[in-house]
Amino acid sequence: MVAPIDALAPAVQSALVAAFGEDVRGADPVVRPSQFADVQVNAAMALAKRLGRKPREVADAIVEHLQGGDLVASAEVSGPGFINVTFDDAWIARQVQAAQADPRLGVATQPTEIIPIDYSAPNVAKEMHVGHLRTTIIGDALARTLEHLGHTVIRQNHVGDWGTPFGMLVEHLLEVGEDSEEARVVETDPNAFYQAARSKFDGSEDFATRARARVVKLQAGDPETLRLWGRLYDLSKVYFNKVYSTLGVTLTDDDLAGESSYNADLPGICEDLEAKGIATVDEGALVVFLPGFTGREDKPVPLFVRKSDGGYGYGTTDVATVRHRVRDLHADRILYVIGVTQSLHLQMVFETARRAGYLPDDVEVVHVKIGSVLGEDRKILKTRSGAPLRLMYLLDEAVQHARTYIDEARPELPEAERAEIARMVGIGGVKYADLSVAHDSDYVFDLDRMLALTGNTGPYLQYATARLRSILRSAGVDPEAQDAPVLLTEPAERDLALRLLDLDGVVAQVGAIYEPHRLCTYLFELAQTFSSFYEACPVLKADDEATRASRLTLCTLTLRTLVQGLDLLGVEAPERM
Ligand code: ARG
Repeated sequence: MVAPIDALAPAVQSALVAAFGEDVRGADPVVRPSQFADVQVNAAMALAKRLGRKPREVADAIVEHLQGGDLVASAEVSGPGFINVTFDDAWIARQVQAAQADPRLGVATQPTEIIPIDYSAPNVAKEMHVGHLRTTIIGDALARTLEHLGHTVIRQNHVGDWGTPFGMLVEHLLEVGEDSEEARVVETDPNAFYQAARSKFDGSEDFATRARARVVKLQAGDPETLRLWGRLYDLSKVYFNKVYSTLGVTLTDDDLAGESSYNADLPGICEDLEAKGIATVDEGALVVFLPGFTGREDKPVPLFVRKSDGGYGYGTTDVATVRHRVRDLHADRILYVIGVTQSLHLQMVFETARRAGYLPDDVEVVHVKIGSVLGEDRKILKTRSGAPLRLMYLLDEAVQHARTYIDEARPELPEAERAEIARMVGIGGVKYADLSVAHDSDYVFDLDRMLALTGNTGPYLQYATARLRSILRSAGVDPEAQDAPVLLTEPAERDLALRLLDLDGVVAQVGAIYEPHRLCTYLFELAQTFSSFYEACPVLKADDEATRASRLTLCTLTLRTLVQGLDLLGVEAPERM
């Protein structure tokens, strides 16, 4: 399948070469939206001067050539040399049929690249908060999309599983007993565990001393301490996996590549950075100063690689991630799906890695910046008491909310099905809301808006798919087997067909610029275009059999496109709703 715009560009280019020779090969065809036709081609205006001709002459030459092919129904020169182009209906119809016959719906695969994606990255024995919600959901949508485009995605869950808090956490675990209820709470409510350890640490000098000694043991690789630390890790995995399965996120234990997995690399990296003259000792600490990285009053901001107490910085671990992903994973591109507030940190990490020779110029490394989730007061979402909001609590709320609606709207459906629909709508609504805003902007968490059945929401799109399924059920159509020829006679049929052909371009764009919200916008507009089509063109009661069958093909491809798009976003679509 090809979108007509994508077919037009090379046609204009070969027209130019045929008329004016090799000099103009590869010239921009300057295709723009038009009020009077499908598109306007402005290449003649742009090239006339260079060719020493009148724009109209150039335009005439392009038109003559375009009229020879089957893509263009009409091409007319207007004004000084604009060309209004209308695409051929039969050409469009053929492309729609090709998409319908293709399991990939016309989405082309790309030459495979290896792409590690760093996303989610919660902390062991700590609650996942709404910030983790965003990097998890957006990272997962990017992973799904890039995989669909044919790339080898390597998910890297950079969990926070190392550092000073583990002294106090391990010590607390020892006190309560590894298999006690108080330990098991990490599986469901890690904050309770963390807070209990914290208050012991703050309240007892004796405990604090033991916690500090424990950190030293942990870092020295004491087997018993490592075993206890491993126990905390395992309890946390149960919790992470609960959240991931609730969210329908593709991360598994195999994707865990936490901070601790880089421990052994850190001393060598420090030595290397020092030997290469990239890091210098400053007041006992090993730091990297990079030109251009300054803070308040133009003071240079250092990246701490080794603190004066001998501990390694968070940045050192990230430099190690770059080296590992390039050297061992053979990355062609690396994505870091991390909060926008860590922008300076990551730029410094990337620059340090470049200077050290860990990051060759031909490896693209991108910080996909993630904005914040805000409360109604437009501050970072928190509970009334100021504690971080429990992610699972938010998700339960969303499903409850959807359940109330579905119980009212579809009381006749079996209880189990209503529960399943509520789950898909609640979770899907939250995920879609997160994905539909630009990833680097903030948004206010508002369940009423997220779960609304109108507007650019998950439930609106889910409802659109359920409605399409119901139309196809009434017609007795099997979505996989529907292949009746497409006839485009009504403008609304043509509009829908043209929209359907944009899927390939949109998915490729999401994979190139890492903006899933563009796929959301596309799906929303497709659903709206479908609604207009359905109002204007009777499907089940179409005038004749050929028209009915053609419209059913359009309905089928619309359904499959919506479901495919939602799947790339990680949003499920219920059969009924
Ligand atoms: N664990 C960190 C946090 O919860 C996020 C880590 C992001 N990933 C990275 N490679 N630095 O804030």
